[in-house]
Amino acid sequence: MATAAHPDPINRTEVDERSRMTGRPSEMEILVVSTHDRYRRLAVERLTPSDVVLEIGCNNGGATRILATTGARVVAVDKSASLVRDLKEELKALDNVTVACVDGRDVTKLLALLPDPTAIFIDIGGDARLDHVALQLRLCLLAFHAGLIVVRSIELATLASLIGCIETPRATGVSFWGGPGDDPASVSSLLYLSRGSSVESRVLAVHLMSQSAGAATRERLREMLSDPNPRVRKAARWACAHPPATGTGAPSGNPGQ
Ligand SMILES: C[S@@+](CC[C@H](N)C(=O)[O-])C[C@H]1O[C@@H](n2cnc3c(N)ncnc32)[C@H](O)[C@@H]1O
Repeated sequence: MATAAHPDPINRTEVDERSRMTGRPSEMEILVVSTHDRYRRLAVERLTPSDVVLEIGCNNGGATRILATTGARVVAVDKSASLVRDLKEELKALDNVTVACVDGRDVTKLLALLPDPTAIFIDIGGDARLDHVALQLRLCLLAFHAGLIVVRSIELATLASLIGCIETPRATGVSFWGGPGDDPASVSSLLYLSRGSSVESRVLAVHLMSQSAGAATRERLREMLSDPNPRVRKAARWACAHPPATGTGAPSGNPGQ
């Protein structure tokens, strides 16, 4: 991420200590803001031309234009086809910006568009429901290895500002960098995700579980062969047919989801 000075300097010792306790890499940050103004300013303060940015919820491009001025490569998505159509036209002269109509929960599509963003900006509406924002954030944490995630959410910012003290769990169950392990927290998190009501969550769970050779995840993948949704069944069929090669922890080939 950009090393340029910014107004909220971070205490390295505090970050390293938090990182030691959670297993989260110290070079990863999640910033929660409530205003458009702060959200957009963070783009300027934190990005450099070497960044590759995924923007979820680009709307009519208010933040996209600012992200683009940093020289970073920007992939901006929104679930509204009409907004995306207009924004594509307006920004067609910007070589470093791609605009696409994608629901941010469809992580398979996001991964196909941009497999390895260095920064993710999420604004699916400042007043969006906390569970929607939390799902979006969780999916991004599971799917990507971005060093910076900026989230605009009034409810999350409010909640976070009310918290005085946190007992940090030893294992989070959310796969911060390093891929899904077979530790109990990761496995129970993946099993939970695999039973979610959102198709995108279940497809992502299949994708992540396909990298695990554990008995519980393999059994769940077999169950998912009869998932009600065809995309989930297709992903599960691929995962069952391609167990990870022993010792590598990764399946061979491409899931083609
Ligand atoms: C408040 S606007 C974003 C404003 C933008 N950050 C700016 O600075 O101008 C929220 C946008 O999120 C989009 N959105 C909501 N849920 C979404 C989802 N699941 N995936 C993609 N876009 C979503 C909406 O269509 C809307 O355009």
